[in-house]
Amino acid sequence: MAASRGEFSSRMGFILAAAGSAVGLGNIWGFPSQVAANGGAAFVLVYLLLAFLIAYPVLMTELAIGRFAKANTLAALEKLSRGPISRRASYLFGYLGVVVAGLILSFYGVIAGLMLGQCLESLLSLFGIETGLLSGTGASTFFTLLFMALTFAIVMRGVSSGIEAWSRRLMPMLIVLLLLLIAIVVSQAGAQQGLKAYLLPDFSKIWQGDLLLSAMGQVFFSLSLGVGTMLIYGSYVKQKESLPKLGAWVTLVDVAIAFLAGLLIIPAMYVAMNNGVQIYDSQGELLASSQLVFVVLPELFASLGVFGIVLSSLFFAMLVLASLTSSISMLEVPVATLSEQSGCSRRQAAILSLLVIASVSLLLIWQGDVLFGLAVSASTEFGQPLMGLVFCIYLGWLWQRHLLLSELQKGSPNIANSAFWRCWPNYVKYVCPLIILTIFFSSIAA
Ligand code: TRP
Repeated sequence: MAASRGEFSSRMGFILAAAGSAVGLGNIWGFPSQVAANGGAAFVLVYLLLAFLIAYPVLMTELAIGRFAKANTLAALEKLSRGPISRRASYLFGYLGVVVAGLILSFYGVIAGLMLGQCLESLLSLFGIETGLLSGTGASTFFTLLFMALTFAIVMRGVSSGIEAWSRRLMPMLIVLLLLLIAIVVSQAGAQQGLKAYLLPDFSKIWQGDLLLSAMGQVFFSLSLGVGTMLIYGSYVKQKESLPKLGAWVTLVDVAIAFLAGLLIIPAMYVAMNNGVQIYDSQGELLASSQLVFVVLPELFASLGVFGIVLSSLFFAMLVLASLTSSISMLEVPVATLSEQSGCSRRQAAILSLLVIASVSLLLIWQGDVLFGLAVSASTEFGQPLMGLVFCIYLGWLWQRHLLLSELQKGSPNIANSAFWRCWPNYVKYVCPLIILTIFFSSIAA
């Protein structure tokens, strides 16, 4: 098994692939919507804090376990187990991770499919062809399957020539598109007001409602934590790399892109408002986040004429690119687990996973919103925090400290004297589980 495992060929390759996983609809769509709904800059501030207080330590947990075990989640947890109970539990949690990753991909694929449809529609209307492609479940089915097929095609090629190679191509394109769009939107009338709302925090809002809770959920989703994605990516990292540095880079890139996406979307909302588009309802509440991307922004684009159609094509192309580097990381979870545990080929594992996940997507499309919402909350509110907790427990309570230290010393020989080593293991052992349990129970209570 060891000989046939893939590996990221370079540090940059890993950072782009892991940041590619992290940066997705969660950053470009989720984060700005949450900012708008939760008091603007106050949410941004809390998010930034939580990224380093929670997400980075948990990300490091997954990366360290993954590289140590050089295996999928199930085998990795088994390797850390110390007795029959934790060994048996590792099977349960290994497969739970697969199920949660699959469930996330099944709804993520539907939304990404809609983005793909919007992108094609904008491109076509640039040439004067109005198709109305997007309407109806038929279109949704078609584009979801198309998006899934793209994801499949990349994952099947393996770690370095599939995931890494495509992340290397797509991530720079995404960043260029994002910067270009920001430059254009910020120069429009009304954008200044949006910049103010985005950048000047109103501290009184920090303790309001479920701002902290939303920020924590958002940070977990955005860094792709709690399904084994980062654990498996960690298992493809070379021994000579310093994990704390890699993890810090990935966190930084993820946070930076979320921040930039806000710099695009929030001013765009105010430009839209300036052009007469409604963005808040009669109670002063922001329109639902799905409306933000599918109604407000298209109306903004439409109000800008041909120039707006170009913008719209670029915007949705950017969302598709971001989704693709995330969806491949989700599909990698069942593919790595199935192929390593059962000995079947990557290709067989990818086909089987895709068939199951795409079937669930179709079910979600055809059965309407209730099931869709259920899939979202089961995976993101229950599955992710639970698995995050499991990773912290295996690392903090089961993994022998000297083995953990020697894993981290690979690539960071002086780590034993660092502040990171003094704080992080105990932080993961005590503080992270506490925080995660708090999120978990408050989201049940909510
Ligand atoms: N982080 C991605 C985003 O922000 C989504 C994602 C990719 C993800 N892999 C994941 C979310 C694994 C949860 C678990 O859009």
